[in-house]
Amino acid sequence: MKSHAYQSGFGNHFASEAMAGTLPVGQNSPQRAAHGLYAEQLSGTAFTAPRSENRRSWLYRIRPAAMHSPFEAFDQPAFHNAFGDGPVSPDQLRWSPLPLPGTATDFVDGLFTMAGNGSAEGQHGIGIHLYAANRSMQGRYFYDADGELLIVPQQGRLRIATELGVLEIEPQQIAVIPRGLRFRVDLPDGPSRGYVCENFGTAMRLPDLGPIGANGLANPRDFDTPVAAYEDIEGEFELIAKFQGHLWRAAIGHSPLDVVGWHGNYAPYRYDLRRFNTIGSISFDHPDPSIFTVLTSPSDTPGTANLDFVIFPPRWLVAQHTFRPPWFHRNIASEFMGLVHGEYDAKAEGFAPGGCSLHNCMTGHGPDAATFEKASQADLSRPDVIADTMAFMFETRAVIRPAQQALDAGHRQRDYQACWAGLRKHFPG
Ligand SMILES: [Fe+2]
Repeated sequence: MKSHAYQSGFGNHFASEAMAGTLPVGQNSPQRAAHGLYAEQLSGTAFTAPRSENRRSWLYRIRPAAMHSPFEAFDQPAFHNAFGDGPVSPDQLRWSPLPLPGTATDFVDGLFTMAGNGSAEGQHGIGIHLYAANRSMQGRYFYDADGELLIVPQQGRLRIATELGVLEIEPQQIAVIPRGLRFRVDLPDGPSRGYVCENFGTAMRLPDLGPIGANGLANPRDFDTPVAAYEDIEGEFELIAKFQGHLWRAAIGHSPLDVVGWHGNYAPYRYDLRRFNTIGSISFDHPDPSIFTVLTSPSDTPGTANLDFVIFPPRWLVAQHTFRPPWFHRNIASEFMGLVHGEYDAKAEGFAPGGCSLHNCMTGHGPDAATFEKASQADLSRPDVIADTMAFMFETRAVIRPAQQALDAGHRQRDYQACWAGLRKHFPG
């Protein structure tokens, strides 16, 4: 796999051209763009959004994005935003990994909606999907007008060719594709699996650090945005769009990944979760998991996120006179967890890489019985290291509604509650 170059930084105003002299100097829309290209603006925020929030890029491309046949409905019934409007069970829910497909399945065909809240129409909330695929998208390109896509691979590398360049990621790395950006996913390792969070709300950004200071957690320079790379190919291709919760297909006679140069701050990026500077307690008590936030999508209420992307990476546990794993809790926020690598320290078994769990608003959860007993008796005179793990959480302010197909799925663990059944009564009365 050819490796591609990247530009470093988070939310920068980048500039990149695959052919010298592509980008106009001192303006965006010259009478004639260089090399016979078309100039096109891609806006990710309202034109009048405050400067600190404003995101847009200028694309210099072989053909404008307007050129394709009319859209018609595209049938992929497992990928949607139908989170239901009936009662939502407050039960704890958990699933084993989504089985890999037995027939040829690309990234779009392999998407399976698990849960979500809010809506694309309302521009708040998230969709939570899994993917399990075994072949590259062939002659097919995709964009999601409903939200930005946070892609978290668990098995197999992804080569994501976008309008603005190529992102290559492997498990323990993530990619974020802005709303509307067209892309194709290639699978260099064949069978591949992972998680996708579709963010209908405000674009994700780095959390404020408060008293942590100027450094720590995910550092801006560890985010990579691709350099310009284009395809100049013609053929009978298809453009799949996700628009207002439904999928659409249009014939297109050329690759839409034909941007020769671009500049701006609305761009895809990748991040290696192993670079996260994990910060925790060096005295006593496990901190709230907000300290593990990689990216956040704020809501209209300060401090209350539409989406927090939180990870539980390798770290030392040194806290004294403390129950070192995460404590039992009930939260107003709702939590969807996944596991990319290794084991999660609050569950002794049943939560495999590729699996997931859902703990909704005010639903009690926490370490399982085996983990509780072990941690309650652990020798705290020496530090403990969690070396081989990478769990994550999509946390959101609104209740996460599981899709009916997730509740009915064969990979759902219907006996999940049993993991707490062994918690013994210690109170002597
Ligand atoms: Fe939790």
